[in-house]
Amino acid sequence: MRKKISVIGAGKVGATTAQRLAERNYADIVLFDVIEFVAEGEALDLLEAGPIVGYDINVTGVTIKDGAGYEKLANSDLVVMTAGIARKPGMSRDDLILTNQKIVGGWGEQIARYAPNAIVIVVTNPVDAMTQLMWHTTKFPKQRVIGQAGVLDSARLRAFVALEFGVAQKNVQAYVLGAHGDQMVPLPRYTTVAGVPITELLPKEKIDALVKRTRDGGAEIVNLLKTGSAFYAPSAAVAEMVDAILYDKHQVLPGIALLEGEYKISGVCAGVPVKLGAQGIEQVVEWKLNADEQAAMEKSGNAVRELNKVMGI
Ligand code: 2OP
Repeated sequence: MRKKISVIGAGKVGATTAQRLAERNYADIVLFDVIEFVAEGEALDLLEAGPIVGYDINVTGVTIKDGAGYEKLANSDLVVMTAGIARKPGMSRDDLILTNQKIVGGWGEQIARYAPNAIVIVVTNPVDAMTQLMWHTTKFPKQRVIGQAGVLDSARLRAFVALEFGVAQKNVQAYVLGAHGDQMVPLPRYTTVAGVPITELLPKEKIDALVKRTRDGGAEIVNLLKTGSAFYAPSAAVAEMVDAILYDKHQVLPGIALLEGEYKISGVCAGVPVKLGAQGIEQVVEWKLNADEQAAMEKSGNAVRELNKVMGI
């Protein structure tokens, strides 16, 4: 039977994610929203693009109203959680926590009820805390709840490094771990141009500037757009993770996982290299970090722990 992906939230991130996944032609897509008929409208428009683009999966939309509509989650293989409020200029991702806690927590209960075997990818911010909340609410095995941040943050760093060197983006590999925010942990030692670490190619001030731009990458776009936040790169990041899972690729990507001692962090979710395949997180890959990198990772873990306290979980 064809796979089924439920995308929660038909805003820009959700709708663009649905588009990217539809164009892959590997799963039926159900889009959900609480704003009446927005999901239905987006879904119909996507369905009608099929004959031109060349996909023939089914795309449907569901409005959640008076507590009804959640049952359409049934038989989802994958759920992508994008619903929630986004930042406005001047806000941090953490400022969203109490509003988005209600939304993500509520959906977590419904996902557990109607799609108990699904793998969940969480995108809603603050995403490390929301991933933890999703895991906490669904009570799913930790392998089946993954947050998206590191693929996006790493892509930003890759794009900036490629611009700096004037090389193809494909020539640049980068890994950004830690929390998706001020505690982000970009790893210049593991950031390479045609295989050579940038630490051997650039002076420290240049690297610091690239790292800073990456850490502030979300805010840079919020400040430009003024009424919303990034969605092209975030949806591309989700689609890469979905590919890894649906094609059982065993691909190592940065993703948010519940840690139980890895990187000396326990009981909290944070961004680490994860091997993704059909079962979700097959392995948290542990790299040798130097003392500064390790300290930064632990700082990330502590920041997420503080957010968990705010949420009371
Ligand atoms: C970003 O970094 C919205 O958190 C997302 O753009």
